[in-house]
Amino acid sequence: MPYRIFVVDDDEHYSRMLSYRLDKNPDYSVTVFNSGEEVLKGLSEKPDLILLDIMMPGIDGIEVLGEVVSKLPGVPVIMVSAQGIIDTAVESMKLGAYDYITKGQDDLVKLDTVVKHVLEKVSMERELDTLRKEVTNKYKIKGLIGESAPMKQVYHLVQKAVRGDLTVAIQGESGTGKELVAKAIHFNSNRKRGPFVVVNCAAIARELMESEFFGHEKGSFTGAHARKIGKFEQANEGTIFLDEICELNLDLQAKLLRALQEGELQRVGGNETIDFDARVISATNQDVIKMIRAGRFREDLYYRLFQYPIPLPPLRERGQDTLLLTNYFFREYTKEHPEFKGKVLSIEARRAITNYSWPGNVRELKSAVERGILISDGEAITATDLMIHSTNPISAWEDRMTLADAAETHFSTPPQPEVELPSTNGSSRYETPSIEPLGGDGQSIVSLEELKHRAVEHAYRRCDGNVDRAAVELGIGRATMYRLLKKYQLMS
Ligand SMILES: Nc1ncnc2c1ncn2[C@@H]1O[C@H](COP(=O)(O)OP(=O)(O)OP(=O)(O)O)[C@@H](O)[C@H]1O
Ligand SMILES: [Mg+2]
Repeated sequence: MPYRIFVVDDDEHYSRMLSYRLDKNPDYSVTVFNSGEEVLKGLSEKPDLILLDIMMPGIDGIEVLGEVVSKLPGVPVIMVSAQGIIDTAVESMKLGAYDYITKGQDDLVKLDTVVKHVLEKVSMERELDTLRKEVTNKYKIKGLIGESAPMKQVYHLVQKAVRGDLTVAIQGESGTGKELVAKAIHFNSNRKRGPFVVVNCAAIARELMESEFFGHEKGSFTGAHARKIGKFEQANEGTIFLDEICELNLDLQAKLLRALQEGELQRVGGNETIDFDARVISATNQDVIKMIRAGRFREDLYYRLFQYPIPLPPLRERGQDTLLLTNYFFREYTKEHPEFKGKVLSIEARRAITNYSWPGNVRELKSAVERGILISDGEAITATDLMIHSTNPISAWEDRMTLADAAETHFSTPPQPEVELPSTNGSSRYETPSIEPLGGDGQSIVSLEELKHRAVEHAYRRCDGNVDRAAVELGIGRATMYRLLKKYQLMS
């Protein structure tokens, strides 16, 4: 793009001469104005440089300079002065002019140098501006908080992943933000106007998974009362996010592979072959390579799904991001719940946050912050209010359970009248299991597995069967919660 230069002079002869001289340079595009009034109207054209005569009838050069300085700060102005008023020209530099030349033959040489010099500066500014914009775009992906080196690397990968349609596989521990990254890719890609469809491979019963993926025809199996459009078809022209991909059984892995290879699918119980156009992003918190070695994940499917892998670092490797995220979640929560305005995180709470290892990653941090806000009595949230007590997830469980119990007795529901309840058949009525302390007190030692079982059951019941809430309570991922509920046969 050539530099736009404005030449302003009431002396048409002189302005034509300047313009002729400058126009010889193909990098310059010159516009001539013959009065102050005229040039003020033309300022919206955003010049890169103005050559401005001082002495003009009507609005003179000094006045125009004032306007330019206030309206287009940063646009350089070179004053053109008649021999007799050099003092004024010098003065004008105090008002913001970049330089001045005099109307004499000698100064035409100076003109060339000054103009060249000024425009080099403009060009540098332009480059800096583009760079600045690039950096902001690169490291700011909507909704993702974090400035640590490993997160910058993630943004870098996301930036590249939005370009094409390669299958992306996001790998990271539970709660690291895999779904958020998948969304960032979708909403920054050229499929952003299409749907973003999520399938949680761990949350759906295996028998129903195929129909969930590909849909079914009416009557194709017991319970198939109507035709159902599967998630792959729903995601047409958009993105399908296959969460917990390692939970797929081998049979479905084979079917998924075929669909991905052909770009077409068949609904369960249907004969028709249907083309689909969905970009596939998958996620897992498992070690896929290990699963391939154990014969539990197909290698060929792995190559299909992992065309562009994005590893997500655990929160404990993100340094200062933990505090950035804490502040972010704190702000977001108190903005949504103005009744907690005025709450602050105590220094010891901040210290506890930095020292903790966050096995449940960002999700665990988010719920700890929100829990802290909710349960703190005074304005200051203490470390205890956060209820993070151990760097070991299992004993953290134990701590939480003990604390939850303590909290229950402490804040307690009003004392229940001692009425004998009619006896039930046992199974239908739930009784909160009591958590026995480990060791000591002469009581038997509870195995970790048993403890985990109880913790899951306890949380699940307390949250009235709301899986998401129970998972948050325990600081574990939703998918893990589903898996554990199934394992302990608390859910079919
Ligand atoms: N970098 C981040 N900035 C802001 N919020 C984040 C970030 N990473 C994660 N979160 C928030 O943390 C929570 C967990 O994120 P998300 O559900 O994407 O994790 P996940 O890796 O998919 O977890 P899981 O493996 O359990 O499914 C969400 O509420 C998400 O909005
Ligand atoms: Mg997830």
